[in-house]
Amino acid sequence: MDENDRILNPGRTGDEDNDNSLRPREMRDYIGQESIKHNLSIFMHSARKRGASLDHVLLYGPPGLGKTTLSKIIANEMKVEIQVTSGPAIERAGDLAAILTSLQENSVLFIDEIHRLSKVVEEVLYPAMEDFSLDMVLGKGLMARTVRVPLKHFTLVGATTRAGKLSAPLRDRFGVICRLEMYTPEELFLILKRSARILGIKIETDACMEIARRSRGTPRIANRLLKRVRDFAEYYNSETITSDIAKMGLTQLEVDTLGLDKVDIAILRTIIAKFEGGPVGLDTLAAASGEENTTIEDVYEPYLLQLGFIQRTPRGRICLKRAYEHLGVDYNGANEVTMFNYLPLSEDPDNG
Ligand code: ADE
Repeated sequence: MDENDRILNPGRTGDEDNDNSLRPREMRDYIGQESIKHNLSIFMHSARKRGASLDHVLLYGPPGLGKTTLSKIIANEMKVEIQVTSGPAIERAGDLAAILTSLQENSVLFIDEIHRLSKVVEEVLYPAMEDFSLDMVLGKGLMARTVRVPLKHFTLVGATTRAGKLSAPLRDRFGVICRLEMYTPEELFLILKRSARILGIKIETDACMEIARRSRGTPRIANRLLKRVRDFAEYYNSETITSDIAKMGLTQLEVDTLGLDKVDIAILRTIIAKFEGGPVGLDTLAAASGEENTTIEDVYEPYLLQLGFIQRTPRGRICLKRAYEHLGVDYNGANEVTMFNYLPLSEDPDNG
Protein backbone atom coordinates (compact mmCIF):
# COMPACT_ATOMS: atom_id res chain seq x y z
CA MET A 1 0.00 0.00 0.00
CA ASP A 2 1.24 3.47 -0.95
CA GLU A 3 2.19 5.48 2.16
CA ASN A 4 -0.13 8.28 1.04
CA ASP A 5 -3.05 5.83 0.90
CA ARG A 6 -2.72 5.21 4.62
CA ILE A 7 -2.95 8.91 5.37
CA LEU A 8 -5.42 9.96 2.71
CA ASN A 9 -9.02 8.80 2.84
CA PRO A 10 -8.76 7.32 6.35
CA GLY A 11 -12.52 6.62 6.16
CA ARG A 12 -14.43 5.28 9.15
CA THR A 13 -14.57 1.91 7.52
CA GLY A 14 -17.66 -0.20 8.08
CA ASP A 15 -19.35 2.76 9.72
CA GLU A 16 -22.78 2.91 8.19
CA ASP A 17 -23.45 6.23 9.96
CA ASN A 18 -21.33 7.80 7.24
CA ASP A 19 -23.31 6.26 4.42
CA ASN A 20 -22.03 7.98 1.28
CA SER A 21 -25.24 7.32 -0.62
CA LEU A 22 -27.03 9.70 1.74
CA ARG A 23 -24.58 12.57 1.38
CA PRO A 24 -25.87 15.35 -0.87
CA ARG A 25 -23.36 16.14 -3.62
CA GLU A 26 -24.63 19.56 -4.56
CA MET A 27 -25.32 22.64 -2.50
CA ARG A 28 -28.97 22.75 -3.61
CA ASP A 29 -29.57 19.30 -2.05
CA TYR A 30 -27.89 20.25 1.22
CA ILE A 31 -30.61 21.11 3.72
CA GLY A 32 -30.15 23.80 6.40
CA GLN A 33 -27.08 25.94 7.30
CA GLU A 34 -28.60 28.58 5.02
CA SER A 35 -26.18 31.40 5.68
CA ILE A 36 -23.10 29.17 5.27
CA LYS A 37 -24.46 27.80 1.97
CA HIS A 38 -25.27 31.27 0.72
CA ASN A 39 -21.86 32.73 1.57
CA LEU A 40 -19.86 29.74 0.34
CA SER A 41 -21.75 29.76 -2.96
CA ILE A 42 -20.79 33.39 -3.52
CA PHE A 43 -17.13 32.81 -2.61
CA MET A 44 -16.97 29.74 -4.89
CA HIS A 45 -18.63 31.59 -7.76
CA SER A 46 -16.17 34.48 -7.49
CA ALA A 47 -13.12 32.22 -7.16
CA ARG A 48 -14.15 30.25 -10.23
CA LYS A 49 -14.72 33.45 -12.20
CA ARG A 50 -11.15 34.51 -11.37
CA GLY A 51 -9.84 31.02 -12.14
CA ALA A 52 -8.41 31.00 -8.63
CA SER A 53 -8.55 28.51 -5.80
CA LEU A 54 -11.17 29.15 -3.11
CA ASP A 55 -9.67 30.71 0.02
CA HIS A 56 -9.02 28.27 2.90
CA VAL A 57 -12.19 27.31 4.79
CA LEU A 58 -12.56 26.33 8.46
CA LEU A 59 -15.75 24.43 9.35
CA TYR A 60 -16.45 23.98 13.02
CA GLY A 61 -19.27 22.68 15.17
CA PRO A 62 -20.46 19.53 16.96
CA PRO A 63 -19.91 16.13 15.27
CA GLY A 64 -22.36 14.81 12.68
CA LEU A 65 -23.57 18.15 11.30
CA GLY A 66 -22.17 17.62 7.79
CA LYS A 67 -18.68 19.13 7.72
CA THR A 68 -17.24 16.34 5.53
CA THR A 69 -20.29 16.49 3.28
CA LEU A 70 -19.88 20.23 2.84
CA SER A 71 -16.20 19.88 1.94
CA LYS A 72 -17.06 17.33 -0.75
CA ILE A 73 -19.75 19.62 -2.10
CA ILE A 74 -17.20 22.46 -2.28
CA ALA A 75 -14.83 20.28 -4.35
CA ASN A 76 -17.69 19.08 -6.55
CA GLU A 77 -19.01 22.55 -7.24
CA MET A 78 -15.52 23.97 -7.82
CA LYS A 79 -15.02 21.01 -10.21
CA VAL A 80 -11.74 20.06 -8.57
CA GLU A 81 -10.28 16.98 -6.91
CA ILE A 82 -10.50 16.40 -3.16
CA GLN A 83 -8.04 14.63 -0.89
CA VAL A 84 -9.44 13.61 2.49
CA THR A 85 -7.32 13.10 5.58
CA SER A 86 -7.39 13.83 9.30
CA GLY A 87 -5.20 15.49 11.92
CA PRO A 88 -4.24 12.27 13.74
CA ALA A 89 -3.45 10.45 10.44
CA ILE A 90 -0.71 12.95 9.56
CA GLU A 91 2.00 11.86 11.99
CA ARG A 92 5.14 13.42 10.50
CA ALA A 93 5.97 16.66 8.74
CA GLY A 94 7.05 14.52 5.76
CA ASP A 95 3.57 12.97 5.56
CA LEU A 96 2.02 16.36 5.03
CA ALA A 97 4.79 17.42 2.60
CA ALA A 98 4.07 14.34 0.49
CA ILE A 99 0.35 15.13 0.38
CA LEU A 100 0.89 18.80 -0.43
CA THR A 101 3.29 18.10 -3.30
CA SER A 102 0.88 15.61 -4.83
CA LEU A 103 -2.11 18.01 -4.97
CA GLN A 104 -3.51 19.11 -8.34
CA GLU A 105 -4.01 22.81 -9.16
CA ASN A 106 -6.88 24.39 -7.14
CA SER A 107 -7.85 21.11 -5.50
CA VAL A 108 -9.33 20.73 -2.02
CA LEU A 109 -7.40 19.21 0.85
CA PHE A 110 -9.84 18.25 3.62
CA ILE A 111 -8.30 17.75 7.06
CA ASP A 112 -10.80 16.46 9.60
CA GLU A 113 -10.07 16.95 13.31
CA ILE A 114 -7.53 19.60 12.32
CA HIS A 115 -7.07 20.61 15.97
CA ARG A 116 -5.23 17.31 16.45
CA LEU A 117 -2.31 18.15 14.12
CA SER A 118 1.02 18.13 15.91
CA LYS A 119 3.00 21.36 16.22
CA VAL A 120 5.69 20.24 13.72
CA VAL A 121 3.11 19.27 11.14
CA GLU A 122 1.19 22.49 11.72
CA GLU A 123 4.33 24.50 10.99
CA VAL A 124 4.61 22.90 7.56
CA LEU A 125 1.08 24.08 6.90
CA TYR A 126 1.69 27.80 7.57
CA PRO A 127 3.81 28.68 4.48
CA ALA A 128 1.77 26.20 2.44
CA MET A 129 -1.48 28.02 3.29
CA GLU A 130 -0.03 31.50 3.06
CA ASP A 131 2.35 31.41 0.08
CA PHE A 132 1.68 27.97 -1.42
CA SER A 133 5.24 26.95 -0.70
CA LEU A 134 7.03 24.31 1.30
CA ASP A 135 10.13 25.00 3.37
CA MET A 136 12.34 21.91 3.20
CA VAL A 137 15.51 21.35 5.19
CA LEU A 138 18.22 19.64 3.16
CA GLY A 139 21.27 18.07 4.79
CA LYS A 140 22.15 17.89 8.45
CA GLY A 141 24.09 19.86 11.06
CA LEU A 142 26.37 22.55 9.65
CA MET A 143 25.49 21.54 6.11
CA ALA A 144 21.74 22.00 6.67
CA ARG A 145 20.02 24.58 4.52
CA THR A 146 16.38 25.31 3.73
CA VAL A 147 14.93 25.49 0.27
CA ARG A 148 11.53 26.83 -0.68
CA VAL A 149 9.58 24.54 -2.96
CA PRO A 150 6.59 26.06 -4.75
CA LEU A 151 3.28 24.22 -4.47
CA LYS A 152 0.23 24.26 -6.71
CA HIS A 153 -2.57 26.47 -5.41
CA PHE A 154 -5.07 24.57 -3.26
CA THR A 155 -7.91 25.09 -0.80
CA LEU A 156 -7.49 23.74 2.70
CA VAL A 157 -10.82 22.83 4.26
CA GLY A 158 -10.26 22.17 7.94
CA ALA A 159 -12.91 20.69 10.20
CA THR A 160 -12.99 20.67 13.96
CA THR A 161 -15.48 20.15 16.73
CA ARG A 162 -13.96 23.05 18.60
CA ALA A 163 -12.43 26.17 17.11
CA GLY A 164 -11.10 27.10 20.55
CA LYS A 165 -8.71 24.14 20.37
CA LEU A 166 -7.02 25.53 17.25
CA SER A 167 -3.82 27.53 17.64
CA ALA A 168 -4.21 31.22 16.80
CA PRO A 169 -1.66 31.17 13.91
CA LEU A 170 -3.53 28.32 12.23
CA ARG A 171 -6.97 29.85 12.78
CA ASP A 172 -5.77 33.18 11.39
CA ARG A 173 -4.75 31.59 8.09
CA PHE A 174 -8.32 30.63 7.17
CA GLY A 175 -10.06 33.19 4.97
CA VAL A 176 -13.52 31.74 5.56
CA ILE A 177 -14.65 30.55 8.99
CA CYS A 178 -18.03 28.84 9.29
CA ARG A 179 -19.75 27.66 12.45
CA LEU A 180 -22.26 24.91 11.72
CA GLU A 181 -25.44 25.11 13.80
CA MET A 182 -27.57 22.27 15.05
CA TYR A 183 -30.51 21.53 12.77
CA THR A 184 -34.14 22.28 13.61
CA PRO A 185 -36.58 19.33 13.75
CA GLU A 186 -38.17 20.70 10.55
CA GLU A 187 -34.81 20.57 8.72
CA LEU A 188 -34.12 17.07 10.07
CA PHE A 189 -37.58 16.05 8.87
CA LEU A 190 -36.61 17.08 5.32
CA ILE A 191 -33.25 15.29 5.60
CA LEU A 192 -35.03 12.12 6.79
CA LYS A 193 -37.60 12.29 3.96
CA ARG A 194 -34.71 12.54 1.48
CA SER A 195 -32.82 9.67 3.11
CA ALA A 196 -35.95 7.48 3.20
CA ARG A 197 -36.49 8.13 -0.52
CA ILE A 198 -32.87 7.22 -1.36
CA LEU A 199 -32.98 4.06 0.77
CA GLY A 200 -36.45 3.06 -0.50
CA ILE A 201 -38.00 3.23 2.96
CA LYS A 202 -41.72 4.01 3.34
CA ILE A 203 -42.37 6.20 6.34
CA GLU A 204 -45.43 8.06 7.66
CA THR A 205 -45.14 11.83 8.12
CA ASP A 206 -45.72 11.58 11.89
CA ALA A 207 -43.09 8.87 12.22
CA CYS A 208 -40.60 10.99 10.31
CA MET A 209 -41.29 13.96 12.59
CA GLU A 210 -40.92 11.74 15.66
CA ILE A 211 -37.43 10.65 14.56
CA ALA A 212 -36.56 14.26 13.63
CA ARG A 213 -37.52 15.49 17.13
CA ARG A 214 -35.38 12.84 18.78
CA SER A 215 -32.22 13.28 16.67
CA ARG A 216 -30.56 15.97 18.81
CA GLY A 217 -30.24 18.41 15.94
CA THR A 218 -27.84 16.06 14.12
CA PRO A 219 -28.34 14.54 10.62
CA ARG A 220 -25.93 11.67 11.33
CA ILE A 221 -28.05 10.62 14.31
CA ALA A 222 -31.28 11.12 12.34
CA ASN A 223 -30.08 8.83 9.54
CA ARG A 224 -28.89 6.20 12.02
CA LEU A 225 -32.20 6.20 13.89
CA LEU A 226 -34.06 5.93 10.58
CA LYS A 227 -32.13 2.75 9.73
CA ARG A 228 -32.66 1.24 13.16
CA VAL A 229 -36.38 2.02 13.17
CA ARG A 230 -36.59 0.45 9.70
CA ASP A 231 -35.19 -2.73 11.29
CA PHE A 232 -38.04 -2.72 13.79
CA ALA A 233 -40.58 -2.21 10.98
CA GLU A 234 -39.11 -5.14 9.05
CA TYR A 235 -39.05 -7.33 12.15
CA TYR A 236 -42.76 -6.67 12.68
CA ASN A 237 -43.53 -7.23 8.98
CA SER A 238 -44.67 -3.66 8.47
CA GLU A 239 -43.97 -2.28 4.99
CA THR A 240 -44.22 1.26 6.30
CA ILE A 241 -42.64 2.89 9.33
CA THR A 242 -45.73 4.02 11.22
CA SER A 243 -45.77 6.50 14.06
CA ASP A 244 -46.37 3.65 16.55
CA ILE A 245 -43.43 1.62 15.24
CA ALA A 246 -41.17 4.69 15.32
CA LYS A 247 -42.14 5.46 18.94
CA MET A 248 -41.78 1.85 20.03
CA GLY A 249 -38.42 1.45 18.26
CA LEU A 250 -37.02 4.69 19.66
CA THR A 251 -38.12 3.74 23.17
CA GLN A 252 -36.50 0.35 22.70
CA LEU A 253 -33.30 2.14 21.60
CA GLU A 254 -33.49 4.12 24.87
CA VAL A 255 -33.81 7.43 23.06
CA ASP A 256 -36.25 9.60 25.00
CA THR A 257 -38.81 12.10 23.66
CA LEU A 258 -36.18 14.83 23.29
CA GLY A 259 -33.48 12.49 21.96
CA LEU A 260 -31.62 12.14 25.25
CA ASP A 261 -29.90 8.80 25.81
CA LYS A 262 -28.62 7.05 28.92
CA VAL A 263 -25.42 9.09 29.03
CA ASP A 264 -27.24 12.44 28.84
CA ILE A 265 -29.53 11.35 31.64
CA ALA A 266 -26.55 10.12 33.68
CA ILE A 267 -24.82 13.49 33.25
CA LEU A 268 -27.91 15.42 34.33
CA ARG A 269 -28.64 13.10 37.25
CA THR A 270 -25.00 13.31 38.38
CA ILE A 271 -25.15 17.12 38.51
CA ILE A 272 -28.53 17.07 40.28
CA ALA A 273 -28.13 14.16 42.67
CA LYS A 274 -24.43 14.21 43.51
CA PHE A 275 -23.72 17.95 43.29
CA GLU A 276 -27.05 19.54 44.22
CA GLY A 277 -27.51 20.90 40.71
CA GLY A 278 -23.93 22.18 40.41
CA PRO A 279 -21.72 23.93 39.77
CA VAL A 280 -19.52 20.97 39.04
CA GLY A 281 -16.21 20.97 37.15
CA LEU A 282 -15.80 19.01 33.92
CA ASP A 283 -13.24 16.58 35.41
CA THR A 284 -15.48 15.71 38.32
CA LEU A 285 -18.45 15.30 36.01
CA ALA A 286 -16.46 13.04 33.71
CA ALA A 287 -15.32 10.86 36.60
CA ALA A 288 -18.79 10.68 38.12
CA SER A 289 -20.57 9.84 34.86
CA GLY A 290 -17.88 7.52 33.49
CA GLU A 291 -17.34 9.46 30.24
CA GLU A 292 -14.23 11.16 28.81
CA ASN A 293 -13.98 14.95 29.22
CA THR A 294 -13.77 15.48 25.47
CA THR A 295 -16.78 13.22 24.85
CA ILE A 296 -18.85 15.22 27.30
CA GLU A 297 -17.72 18.52 25.80
CA ASP A 298 -17.98 17.60 22.12
CA VAL A 299 -20.83 15.12 21.99
CA TYR A 300 -23.15 15.56 24.96
CA GLU A 301 -22.90 19.15 26.13
CA PRO A 302 -23.75 20.97 22.88
CA TYR A 303 -27.25 19.50 22.81
CA LEU A 304 -27.85 19.89 26.56
CA LEU A 305 -26.77 23.54 26.25
CA GLN A 306 -29.00 23.98 23.21
CA LEU A 307 -31.98 22.59 25.12
CA GLY A 308 -31.27 25.02 27.98
CA PHE A 309 -30.82 22.04 30.34
CA ILE A 310 -27.34 22.98 31.52
CA GLN A 311 -25.21 26.06 31.60
CA ARG A 312 -21.46 26.59 31.83
CA THR A 313 -20.44 29.04 34.52
CA PRO A 314 -16.98 30.09 35.70
CA ARG A 315 -17.26 27.57 38.53
CA GLY A 316 -18.50 24.66 36.43
CA ARG A 317 -21.65 23.19 34.94
CA ILE A 318 -25.06 23.80 36.47
CA CYS A 319 -28.40 22.13 35.77
CA LEU A 320 -31.26 24.47 34.89
CA LYS A 321 -34.96 24.26 35.72
CA ARG A 322 -35.92 22.74 32.35
CA ALA A 323 -33.71 19.72 33.03
CA TYR A 324 -35.41 19.11 36.38
CA GLU A 325 -38.82 19.37 34.71
CA HIS A 326 -37.84 16.93 31.97
CA LEU A 327 -36.55 14.42 34.53
CA GLY A 328 -39.54 14.99 36.84
CA VAL A 329 -37.32 16.11 39.72
CA ASP A 330 -38.33 18.90 42.16
CA TYR A 331 -36.55 22.16 41.47
CA ASN A 332 -35.62 24.44 44.35
CA GLY A 333 -34.67 27.45 42.24
CA ALA A 334 -31.02 27.45 43.30
CA ASN A 335 -29.76 27.68 39.74
CA GLU A 336 -32.10 30.33 38.46
CA VAL A 337 -30.18 32.34 35.83
CA THR A 338 -30.47 35.98 36.77
CA MET A 339 -28.64 39.06 35.64
CA PHE A 340 -26.51 38.68 38.76
CA ASN A 341 -25.08 35.25 38.11
CA TYR A 342 -25.09 35.22 34.31
CA LEU A 343 -21.68 35.27 32.65
CA PRO A 344 -21.20 34.95 28.91
CA LEU A 345 -19.40 31.84 27.64
CA SER A 346 -16.30 33.79 26.66
CA GLU A 347 -15.60 34.42 30.35
CA ASP A 348 -16.00 30.77 31.24
CA PRO A 349 -12.58 29.29 32.08
CA ASP A 350 -13.73 25.86 30.88
CA ASN A 351 -14.76 27.16 27.50
CA GLY A 352 -12.37 26.25 24.65
N1 ADE B 1 -27.32 14.45 5.11
C1 ADE B 1 -26.52 14.85 6.08
N2 ADE B 1 -26.56 16.18 6.20
C2 ADE B 1 -27.42 16.64 5.29
C3 ADE B 1 -27.88 17.92 4.94
N3 ADE B 1 -27.50 19.01 5.58
N4 ADE B 1 -28.76 18.01 3.95
C4 ADE B 1 -29.16 16.90 3.31
N5 ADE B 1 -28.78 15.68 3.61
C5 ADE B 1 -27.90 15.54 4.60
